[in-house]
Amino acid sequence: MIICRTKEALRTEIKTKKAEGKSIGFVPTMGYLHEGHLHLVEQARAEHDVVVLSIFVNPLQFGPNEDLDRYPRDFERDERLAMEAGVDLVFYPTVEEMYPDEPSLAIHVKKGTDVLCGASRPGHFDGVATVVLKLFNLVQPDDAYFGMKDAQQVAVIMNMVRDLNLDVRIVPCETVRETDGLAKSSRNVNLTAEERTEAPLLYQTLQEAKEIILTGEREADMVRAYLLKQYEDRLSGNVDYVELLSYPDLEPIKTIKGTVIIAVAYRYSAVRLIDNIVFTLNEG
Ligand code: PAJ
Repeated sequence: MIICRTKEALRTEIKTKKAEGKSIGFVPTMGYLHEGHLHLVEQARAEHDVVVLSIFVNPLQFGPNEDLDRYPRDFERDERLAMEAGVDLVFYPTVEEMYPDEPSLAIHVKKGTDVLCGASRPGHFDGVATVVLKLFNLVQPDDAYFGMKDAQQVAVIMNMVRDLNLDVRIVPCETVRETDGLAKSSRNVNLTAEERTEAPLLYQTLQEAKEIILTGEREADMVRAYLLKQYEDRLSGNVDYVELLSYPDLEPIKTIKGTVIIAVAYRYSAVRLIDNIVFTLNEG
């Protein structure tokens, strides 16, 4: 497995692989790898000659009072996990390498950011789109793999690819969970023991809401009220948002129909967790 710490080293490697006619599957991450990330790698591995993984905690997508300093990092462990998973090339740049100069332009995501994490983390998706576009330009992947745990991120990146005519296919991959249902996340290590015990209820309650819809409820406000009440009664942190939207358009809905996302963001003492369920109502 090759590790590239500079853009130049990465470009040289990519050029060679491309000249050999090899296809490239790309998995962008912020490191502290877990089975969610490795599931993306597995899919890329199955579909491509070369698998590139990037590890970069992107300061641009963190707000001033967010957890950039607390974000967990362990490159040696990541390196081992990446190697075991069959990654061919790891791109591991410094902040200076990715952002050497004051940028002359800014990427601003206009659509789908007035809801969910876009609303509660202003500027977050501008930072995500900027780094992903830079990474796409460096890696030049055929396919790039993203987790549905961050369903809004998938929608934003797909829109960017379409708007800017990028020559890459975005492959959405399902959320990998702990056995108790908690979505795997690098941030889970920042939960206290009690928070970790109750956190699976985030997903369980989303599943209950889905069940309520499948058994006949169609009013988005009713489902939202149910979720808010359950989270209030059963968990010790604070709801950041609970939303029901159409997917992938992320438009507010009154009556539930078609493909919808039920999403939650929840604040604990030192960590904010997100989770969601996307499903389709098959009605005539
Ligand atoms: P990060 O949070 O490290 O996640 C990297 C990729 O792994 C994302 O596509 C994310 O959706 C996926 N992922 C995380 N947890 C998952 C889980 N439990 N199951 C399946 N996939 C999961 O998302 C980012 O980094 C950054 O925003 C990034 C795209 C790298 C840009 O900086």
